[in-house]
Amino acid sequence: MWQYTEKVMDHFLNPRNIGEIENPDAVGTVGSLQCGDMLKLTLKVKDEIITEARFKTFGCASAIASSSALTELIKGKTIQEALSITNRDITEYLGGLPQQKLHCSVMGQEALESALKDYFEKQGKEMPPREEYLVCKCFGLTNKDILTCVERHQWKTLEDVTSGCKAGSLCGKCKGEIQNLLEHYHGDTVIREQKEK
Ligand code: FES
Repeated sequence: MWQYTEKVMDHFLNPRNIGEIENPDAVGTVGSLQCGDMLKLTLKVKDEIITEARFKTFGCASAIASSSALTELIKGKTIQEALSITNRDITEYLGGLPQQKLHCSVMGQEALESALKDYFEKQGKEMPPREEYLVCKCFGLTNKDILTCVERHQWKTLEDVTSGCKAGSLCGKCKGEIQNLLEHYHGDTVIREQKEK
């Protein structure tokens, strides 16, 4: 039996913003019914502000609570502000999720990302790069989470990261991106040190 916070239970039992917006300005879909979890997010946007957000989710209690939390988090936000929302914001809003259920908040972030991409595409614009983005989906860790640990512990190798914060230690699909982060971080350090000499 999972231990859920009161807020998770509240958003599961009384989900906010369920449904689908007619003629939405953006649609984001992740997962599939065949895989078990699916989330469809629809947005209404006026003057770059998300005025309405609705979701339809097929999944467990945490998936429904995460989707509900996501819609509450983004309503009233500008598109620019929504670009910086991560799965961590969703879990914090809910007062935490069991480690094994973190992927539900990841699904929320991916649906938001997909909807924002759709919004920019419909505007004929390219989506600006996000400052903070998801690197390890299995453990819900962003580039900032990983870089904070790299900096704090001065990790140098992929093994340091996988054993230190678990990123990359499950499916391994994020290992290439972790390697890029490490090279970027230590490369910058080298350049800075050389300039200071
Ligand atoms: S995405 Fe990082 S271990 Fe699976």
